[in-house]
Amino acid sequence: MKDVPSEKVKEYLDLFDGDVLQAVRALREVGYGKPAAPAAPRRPLSDEVLIRVEDLKKSYKVGKQHVNALNGVTLDVHKGEFLALTGASGSGKSTLLQLMGGLDKPSEGSVTIHGNKLASLNDKKLSEFRNKTVGFVFQFFYLQPFLRLRQNLEVAGMPARTKRPVRRERVAQLAEVVGLGDRLEHFPKELSGGQMQRAAIARALLNNPEILLADEPTGNLDSENGKAIIDLFEKIRNEFGTTIVVVTHDAAIAARADREISLKDGVLL
Ligand SMILES: Nc1ncnc2c1ncn2[C@@H]1O[C@H](COP(=O)(O)OP(=O)(O)OP(=O)(O)O)[C@@H](O)[C@H]1O
Ligand SMILES: [Mg+2]
Repeated sequence: MKDVPSEKVKEYLDLFDGDVLQAVRALREVGYGKPAAPAAPRRPLSDEVLIRVEDLKKSYKVGKQHVNALNGVTLDVHKGEFLALTGASGSGKSTLLQLMGGLDKPSEGSVTIHGNKLASLNDKKLSEFRNKTVGFVFQFFYLQPFLRLRQNLEVAGMPARTKRPVRRERVAQLAEVVGLGDRLEHFPKELSGGQMQRAAIARALLNNPEILLADEPTGNLDSENGKAIIDLFEKIRNEFGTTIVVVTHDAAIAARADREISLKDGVLL
């Protein structure tokens, strides 16, 4: 409550019949007492900015209607940061994540990674960026049901010219990292939900991406498996220095990140 100016609270007290808590809540709603975005980090961030998001806007046209999904988001994601992105359903989280990963183009504003504005890359460069620099993880695991875990990992993502022994070695190594070293010959249906998501994370890491973007990766998991996924993200960040952005509805998960930022109606709170 300390972060809301007391003179403002006094002004609002009448409106809420002297109820201080209600007054503070209302003031926060209208923007008082909110930390300036982005919120203070829980651990020191590296000086190096890896993803620079500037005044990002995205609107979708649906029939004659325009839906404004993002209304001007400015944000720096630092190298090696583990960032949680929260907010109500429809607030623009997935849209922001997709634009950061070059899966879609903004209507206005820019995403800059390594000094390159994603929107200015041609299709070839953009798909190279997506393959080499970014790994994606989604709520649904998208494993091929008719392929064994080893095959699922071998066919995904790695450039075709990667030699088989190198590919096999990398797959085995990543399966170990995600705790599935003994499951490589299993089919997805023989894995639990948590194991499938860990497999999807291993797949996202095949090319050793600098950035891992995850959209509600624990949305389909119980809290114990959800925790294991976040433990894994932490381990990945610590071992490989991967920069991780996770969209989540789960406050306990967001609390584990270095920094949590929240979206509301397409803007940062
Ligand atoms: N492809 C699309 N076409 C039209 N509108 C879209 C499209 N994708 C998203 N939207 C709209 O943009 C807004 C933001 O959607 P977005 O998916 O980014 O929200 P979100 O925060 O990820 O929500 P959730 O928590 O439910 O996944 C919503 O109003 C949504 O309906
Ligand atoms: Mg979403």
